[in-house]
Amino acid sequence: ASTLGASAAERGRYFGVAIAGSRLGDSQYATIANREFNMVSAENEMKPDATEPNQNQFSFGAGDQIANWARSNGKQVRGHTLAWHSQQPGWIQRMEGSGLRSAMLNHVTRVASYYQGKIHSWDVVNEAFADGSSGARRDSNLQRTGNDWIEAAFRAARAADPGAKLCYNDYNTDNWSHAKTQGVYRMVQDFKSRGVPIDCVGFQAHFNSGNPVPSNYHTTLQNFADLGVDVQITELDIEGSGSSQAEQYRGIVQACLAVTRCNGITVWGVRDTDSWRASGTPLLFNGSGQKKAAYDAVLAQL
Ligand code: XIL
Repeated sequence: ASTLGASAAERGRYFGVAIAGSRLGDSQYATIANREFNMVSAENEMKPDATEPNQNQFSFGAGDQIANWARSNGKQVRGHTLAWHSQQPGWIQRMEGSGLRSAMLNHVTRVASYYQGKIHSWDVVNEAFADGSSGARRDSNLQRTGNDWIEAAFRAARAADPGAKLCYNDYNTDNWSHAKTQGVYRMVQDFKSRGVPIDCVGFQAHFNSGNPVPSNYHTTLQNFADLGVDVQITELDIEGSGSSQAEQYRGIVQACLAVTRCNGITVWGVRDTDSWRASGTPLLFNGSGQKKAAYDAVLAQL
């Protein structure tokens, strides 16, 4: 097929993109996004600060703009994200203890219930593990409510939307030998052994010269899949240009296709100029909306 989404679909997978609602009025942006992708993530609009700006006052307008655009164009939606230490509304940042725990679970329940039946996969919890060599949880207000906060969030999400795949999502979990990867792996293994409802692990996959695509990437994806979860590449971007960047993108697609339970790949933006990254050219389309070598490599591999 001649687009990323249609080609991925022929492989039983999706190819997604993060959408910023504010850019949908840019016709070049909307045209590319609509043509190439069959899965959509809201870049910011379904995060806790967007959906519950004041406690128990929910705001779904911005998220709905993206979800409705996706649906009217025949695309599915990844929900991003229900519980995270970052992009919390101020009122949550000021909470702790059992009050925070209840507020977090209420948020998970209300947002997942609102979107019930409309979400392919939810990033229930985002970025809960620490960087570095500990393999431990990241310190955060949520973590300080008790180590079981993640499983509590997953149980609440399952109750609210039994049809959505429930994912744990993180970054720097690509290299199998890294402590953070091992920490997440042990948590998923534990959840599966105890029946905590988890269906998938999201690999953000933000790469740059200091954090290149590891040679054992396929091993990482396969080992997680072997725990009995799907794996998804959820926020892909790779700094660089030309054939070296194209080769790294190709390797990611190849690794995903080699793992039966790797359901799909999402890139974190449309054009280089849409990227969250302050500098660099990490995406598949240049600032003029033209296909880059990386695009050609991905399409050829799919
Ligand atoms: C980023 C967005 O792209 C930016 O627009 C925003 O200012 C900050 O968040 N990991 C995640 C994403 O899980 O939600 C982040 O998105 C990028 C890193």
